[in-house]
Amino acid sequence: MFSEPEWPPPARRAAEALRRLVEADEVGGGLEAGSIRVGAAPGRVNLLGGHTDYNEGYVLPVAVNRYVACAVLETVPEGGGEDDASSLEFYGLDFDDRFTIELTRLGDLRADGEAFERLVGGQQYRWRRYVAGVVLEMDEAGMALPASQAVITGDVPIGSGLSSSAALEAAVYTALAPAGPATVEAALLCQRAENRWAGVPCGIMDQFASFMAQEGRVLFLDCRRLTYKNVRLPGGSAITVVDSGIRRELADGEYRKRRQEIESALGILRKVVGPLQSLRDLTPEVFAEVEDMLPLRLRRRVEHVVGAIARVPRGITHLALGEDGEFGKLLNECHRSLADLYDVSTAELDTIVSAASEVEGVLGARLTGAGFGGCCVVLHREGCEDELRSAVTAAFEAKFSPTLSFYHLHTASGARLLGGKETVQ
Ligand code: GLA
Repeated sequence: MFSEPEWPPPARRAAEALRRLVEADEVGGGLEAGSIRVGAAPGRVNLLGGHTDYNEGYVLPVAVNRYVACAVLETVPEGGGEDDASSLEFYGLDFDDRFTIELTRLGDLRADGEAFERLVGGQQYRWRRYVAGVVLEMDEAGMALPASQAVITGDVPIGSGLSSSAALEAAVYTALAPAGPATVEAALLCQRAENRWAGVPCGIMDQFASFMAQEGRVLFLDCRRLTYKNVRLPGGSAITVVDSGIRRELADGEYRKRRQEIESALGILRKVVGPLQSLRDLTPEVFAEVEDMLPLRLRRRVEHVVGAIARVPRGITHLALGEDGEFGKLLNECHRSLADLYDVSTAELDTIVSAASEVEGVLGARLTGAGFGGCCVVLHREGCEDELRSAVTAAFEAKFSPTLSFYHLHTASGARLLGGKETVQ
């Protein structure tokens, strides 16, 4: 029934699981015959830009064909009357965990931090925070939320730098707001959900990519103006993601610490350079004049950001001129800067990047996402996958014990709504 070949596997799994729940009548009384619809949203890798989004700079992510899917069936409250409580019930298939949000309590949940904490049940089930956060933000934005039963599942590796959290937010949003097309506002709403309710001070890159990316293209996003262009990737190129197996958590201190360091640096720089809204306003030339004012650690942080922002338009020029090799080199430059100046790489990620870069046909490699573990992205010519796998595995196993995973991925378009015609009787 949900076997449309173009549906990503998690979308089929979520819809099938929801249908089974309904058929088993596990969802309780009062189910209205209705249509299952599925919001499916992709993860992403970032080719250029790293920790540049919250500095109002540029980023260059690509959405990939790993998805989170949220299947939804609207329900009618028991008794069917207007006064009967209606709710949104979410089942997280991958966590075998479910929770219910009473729609009449959304205002209370927003106002009362403890009530929110009770709902999401501490840190054990972090997926609940992202889902509940999107629901609360949609309600605050005045969007109508239908009483529903929902099942969520995904195949974006969690905590690995492929942005499973933004894919989760975008999938939930898309499933619950079928009339709402993917918009910049939707991306901002999901970012707010993550900042406020999951406690992660992320920038806008991941949510924007999960909504607005286009298959076959990289998303050239200006994180200050929120304007973007979808730019063609080098012809005949392919993406392999190498997962170091080391998991990280963005809510951990290091990401937040980088943001605080940038704020401290801005405080010092403003006294010397005058008004600076963000590091976007600091050109490499002005930085060269004033860098000595900063203590060493902050100087290295700022040097990374200023260089990483400037690298993105250079990359776009190389792509436009068909200079694929030059474009690829910028990925490696970005990795070096993230490792040496921003201190967000690990010995494992460095080993993967340098081994991959030696392989013929590889255009460039770098860590993806925030760093501190997770994955590297390798941009390469089609056909060198086997060689890449054996070279990287050999170099890695000579030094480290965890097993690597290789994902050969395709580019994908942003969040979409599927189905809506299946009738559950
Ligand atoms: C995480 C955040 C993004 C961005 C990257 C680093 O993925 O969610 O906003 O800051 O790290 O580029």
